[in-house]
Amino acid sequence: MNLSDKLKKKVFRQIGETADRLGRPVYVVGGYVRDIFLNRTSADIDFVTVGSGIELAREVAKDLPGKNRLSVFATYGTAQIRHRDLELEFVGARKESYRRDSRNPIVENGTLDDDQRRRDFTINAMAISLNADTFGEVVDPFGGLEDLDRKIIRTPLDPDITFSDDPLRMMRAIRFATQLEFDILPETFEAIRRNASRIEIITKERINDELGKIMRARRPSIGLDLLEKAGLMELIFPEIHALKGVETKEGRGHKDNFYHTLQVVDNVAARSDNEWLRWAALLHDVGKPVTKEWEPGTGWTFRNHNFIGEKMIPPLFRKMKLPMNEKMKYVAKLVGLHMRPQQVGEEKVSDSGVRRLLTDAGEDIEDLMILAESDLTSKNPVKVRTALEGFAHLRERMADLKDADAYRNWKNPIRGDEVMERLGIPPCPRLGQLLQQVKDAILDGHVANDHDAAWAYLETLVTPEDRGSAGGTSTSKSSAPDSAC
Ligand code: CTP
Repeated sequence: MNLSDKLKKKVFRQIGETADRLGRPVYVVGGYVRDIFLNRTSADIDFVTVGSGIELAREVAKDLPGKNRLSVFATYGTAQIRHRDLELEFVGARKESYRRDSRNPIVENGTLDDDQRRRDFTINAMAISLNADTFGEVVDPFGGLEDLDRKIIRTPLDPDITFSDDPLRMMRAIRFATQLEFDILPETFEAIRRNASRIEIITKERINDELGKIMRARRPSIGLDLLEKAGLMELIFPEIHALKGVETKEGRGHKDNFYHTLQVVDNVAARSDNEWLRWAALLHDVGKPVTKEWEPGTGWTFRNHNFIGEKMIPPLFRKMKLPMNEKMKYVAKLVGLHMRPQQVGEEKVSDSGVRRLLTDAGEDIEDLMILAESDLTSKNPVKVRTALEGFAHLRERMADLKDADAYRNWKNPIRGDEVMERLGIPPCPRLGQLLQQVKDAILDGHVANDHDAAWAYLETLVTPEDRGSAGGTSTSKSSAPDSAC
């Protein structure tokens, strides 16, 4: 098979010419070749030669027109050239297992065939020659093309060897199966199950890269389910694994929260590309296993699982080395609020409930609506109808609310500092209570949403004891004998 018509970029001919001048074979290899067949383009291109990849890269960098930045990684035997918007990576064919981010020095003593067999999957182990006399010829000794056609992920070697060379490949297999919607060959999948425990030697950062790719795919549930079935989920994300299973008591079971979660993630993914909204979907019920209780007469309950779940997010993100920034806060907030739209919608409450929801969700209200609507996976038609009517009602109410924008960005016009300073109330739970009462009165529409009205209302709430708690007008806490705190 000849693919010269797919190698239109000038660099391919130019690199072939340099290699010919040096009397060396050169091939484009790996993901770029796979992506040609999948009609995807990429700016990262890997080249393999027999002998030193660095030597070839030095010559190529000189020969290519324009300014080319060359970076050499001598220990790893690789070199990179930035040429225009392309990232060209050169390696020498090796006998050892290939991994772009391998930390071990490599020895370039292999043939092309050696190099291909130590790559992860047959679909990633194809090469195309760039030397003039064979330009465009596909070298596919392990049936990568056939596997692409059959939509199969398979290792070129005995999978136990491929996975023990780099256990991250188990996650890569599942990630490719998710992104490409391919099947993993049963023997390959069995090897993942057998070797799952070896994932423990892989850094959380590399695991997260793969998890992120799964979460950004069209149907993340494919990968999440495979991770669970392979025994990897339990090791890399025990909190999600814990959602699995159904317990039955007195003939009453609860839904399997793992499969429910997968459905919610896919529902969200069908409506939004926002990766962190998808993470919120993955984690929305993470508080369920720890809050599950059997209540005679009622059945299974998961009381406050949303609030418990919200509290679990920061330590979970820290443990998993996920970003501890506004993304984490966003996920925690949505987990905490995920049941509110359905409650507010079904209660058909007054404007105050809608205002409150807008205030708590802020700019993320539409994302919260998507999450809440995606959470509706019940098979009970009555429940579904009631919930859908509730969502429709809530959306109408939000659209009707004239001052909706003011509440989306709502901040209490009274600040805690001001109360402490002007009224001499120290920082204590009572201060929080007072601010909450002001908030409630504004959101209920009893008090105007402005500073002076709010302050006047606050004055009516403050008792002499409150002031006394800080010793009259003084802010010194030490003089607070009857402190309310
Ligand atoms: N590779 C491998 N084992 C790994 C990582 C990579 O054998 N653990 C090989 C594969 O041949 C792969 C190539 O290195 O095609 C390039 O790796 P990388 O850029 O990480 O992946 P791609 O296959 O290009 O896919 P993606 O860009 O989607 O990650």
